[in-house]
Amino acid sequence: MNTLQSYIKTHQKRFLNELIALLKIPSVSADTAYKKEVLLTADFVLESLKKAGCDHVELCETPGYPIIYGEKIIDKKLPTVLVYGHYDVQPADPIDLWNSPPFEPVIKKTALHPEGAIFARGACDDKGQMYMHVKALEYMTKTGNLPCNVKFMIEGEEEVGSESLAWFIPRNKEKLANDVILISDTGMVANDTPSITTGLRGLSYVEVAVTGPNRDLHSGLYGGAVANPINILTKMIASLHDENNQITIPGFYDRVENVSKEEKAEMAKIPFSLDHYKEALNIKDIYGEKGFTTNERNSIRPTLDVNGIWGGYTGEGAKTVIASKAFAKISMRLVPNQDWKTITQLFKNHFESIAPKAVTVEVTPHHGGQGYVTPIDTIAYKAASKAYETSFGKTPIPQRSGGSIPIVALFEEHLKSKTILMGFGLDSDAIHSPNEHFGVWNYLKGIETLPYFYQYFTEMSK
Ligand code: BES
Ligand code: MN
Ligand code: MN
Repeated sequence: MNTLQSYIKTHQKRFLNELIALLKIPSVSADTAYKKEVLLTADFVLESLKKAGCDHVELCETPGYPIIYGEKIIDKKLPTVLVYGHYDVQPADPIDLWNSPPFEPVIKKTALHPEGAIFARGACDDKGQMYMHVKALEYMTKTGNLPCNVKFMIEGEEEVGSESLAWFIPRNKEKLANDVILISDTGMVANDTPSITTGLRGLSYVEVAVTGPNRDLHSGLYGGAVANPINILTKMIASLHDENNQITIPGFYDRVENVSKEEKAEMAKIPFSLDHYKEALNIKDIYGEKGFTTNERNSIRPTLDVNGIWGGYTGEGAKTVIASKAFAKISMRLVPNQDWKTITQLFKNHFESIAPKAVTVEVTPHHGGQGYVTPIDTIAYKAASKAYETSFGKTPIPQRSGGSIPIVALFEEHLKSKTILMGFGLDSDAIHSPNEHFGVWNYLKGIETLPYFYQYFTEMSK
């Protein structure tokens, strides 16, 4: 056992207990009822960075939730790693579907986590993964193994679109100057198949409202004679996909990159079992765009999904009514080269154009962001790859993810640096879902892997 492994072993109980304390604070950024708790979480992160050895920590006020900044600069001539993560979490609902309360973390064994997993909202996304970095820093500073400069930037609005961070970055370019941005907010293929995320999808999120008559109507007296906004909305939504499950918005695919045969062949090497996939989700069959594999559909292809739809009477029993209004929230996952603002406009134009005259349609854009692809011929990628090789004993495979971290494209635009995504979660960790969890093994393996990244990145930068 080397120094790093024995440090982790000696302190692992405390590492877990600290994470559990962090997970107990319900930092739900989407719901203003949790404002106090989100702010408490920011303080927790600030204190933890101080204790882990940052020379300077700062709670940076923004128009929204604060950004926690910390740094340890050992020598201006050495490279600087900027760590990004988020301390906010998704809402926990539907609460009924949790087997234990979302903000009372418990450790339980699962088939994929025989050494136990911590169950709590934010366990994997992103408190657990963010806190690995704090503990890796602690190890490096306490044992004299920090080889370069490090900066931390931990935000509290990632789950609601990172608006304040987008405001903060262009105003703090010098403070945030770095040689590479390091993030653990993604996943890997499996515990015995480490991978490095090389792609994130972009996002355009919109809300639509369809209005018919000026009030809810008796569905017998008026039914058949006036437009029913719910009927119309569902018909409009259904028309957004064709028989091949391609999106029908004119121009939607114009800038979608054609991924090369070679890259597709690489992607096909990622271990995948259709049977396991169906079994894990309890679905009889898969579904999606014709001509693409499951792995391609959820990473290199754009999508359009309704995230929520409402209107009319949904209470107990029956009420014969034609609602005046119907609503839906729609997300589009985009791939590199698709511009999210252009796509949002294309959606708006198209959606308004297909509405019958009998209703009015309103499209309200929410938030969005560009996709991202990390090159694999950089020092950062090579250093990350070697770090996994050292701690896992296996070369990680590059993997494009279907998720989005829109702020990554803005980092590159303003700070001119590349991001490396070293995620340690599994797709099955149920992020955003009830019973979110993060493997104890994954947490500790992350803490073990990260210091190697610093070491190799510094060595390779010379
Ligand atoms: N950490 C996730 C993104 C993620 C998860 C990327 C797993 C790749 C693999 C992040 O917190 C997230 O949930 N992002 C949102 C977008 C945001 C604008 C709300 C998403 O992808 O839905
Ligand atoms: Mn996240
Ligand atoms: Mn998330």
